[in-house]
Amino acid sequence: MNEGRVIASNVEKVYRSERTPTTAIEDLSFEVGDGEFFSVVGPSGCGKSTLLYLIAGFLDVTSGMITVNDHAVEGPGTDRGVVFQDYALFPWKTVMGNVTYGLAENGVPKDERRETAQHFIDTMGLDGFEDTYPKELSGGMKQRVGLARTLAYDPKILLMDEPFGALDQPLREALQDNLLDIWRELGKTVVFITHDVEEAVYLSERVLIMTRHPGTRKQVIDIDLDRTQDREAIITSEEFTETKNEVWRSLREETKHTV
Ligand SMILES: Nc1ncnc2c1ncn2[C@@H]1O[C@H](COP(=O)(O)OP(=O)(O)OP(=O)(O)O)[C@@H](O)[C@H]1O
Ligand SMILES: [Mg+2]
Repeated sequence: MNEGRVIASNVEKVYRSERTPTTAIEDLSFEVGDGEFFSVVGPSGCGKSTLLYLIAGFLDVTSGMITVNDHAVEGPGTDRGVVFQDYALFPWKTVMGNVTYGLAENGVPKDERRETAQHFIDTMGLDGFEDTYPKELSGGMKQRVGLARTLAYDPKILLMDEPFGALDQPLREALQDNLLDIWRELGKTVVFITHDVEEAVYLSERVLIMTRHPGTRKQVIDIDLDRTQDREAIITSEEFTETKNEVWRSLREETKHTV
């Protein structure tokens, strides 16, 4: 069974620091179908990263449950791959070293690592940079390495926390389209956090809008765009503008209370 269903049921997360406890998420429920591209937007501090780390198994829910293919999440696993905004690459390892490291960590036999790594390095357009160190790469290239490293061990579910947030617009767009190609070809389930409404609408099949802190479900919006068209046609379509405005309106209701 290689499916990628994620279900959150009445999830609550309380951070217990030494001083006062903080409820980051309360009573949050939603389902992400196998192979779905699902984005999460919400005001800053509403618990988006917390939610991603709960699905990843880096944090435990305080109450409620998150299941992946009907199994409660109890820790990280190779069925889920996380891509961070700040790339989280090892500065002392080359591109090849960073990508093979993920494979080693996930139990891929040594003789297969290089070949698999090379395949994803090529997929992400990084061929020729195998022996380069992260500090010599641009932000866009670093994020390609981050993606190659995660894709190489073939997680069914990609969990992405504002992965393109630090990139300029042309690079963002290039990586968004790379990601869509990968999603279509490899049939991954994607849970994608962003604060960029346009990005969420362009990429996703559904968007979860969270309320302001403490975050819960405000609304889930279906995105119905003709994906056979190219970017230009999609973003200039009436459906795109209407959906974007609908998400904006919902989000604005939340953010106007935070200032
Ligand atoms: N380790 C922690 N200990 C205590 N409180 C935390 C911790 N991490 C996050 N929080 C709090 O939990 C809430 C949600 O934080 P989180 O980082 O998940 O929000 P976010 O939606 O990802 O924000 P942003 O859009 O700014 O990235 C915030 O109030 C934050 O201060
Ligand atoms: Mg965050």
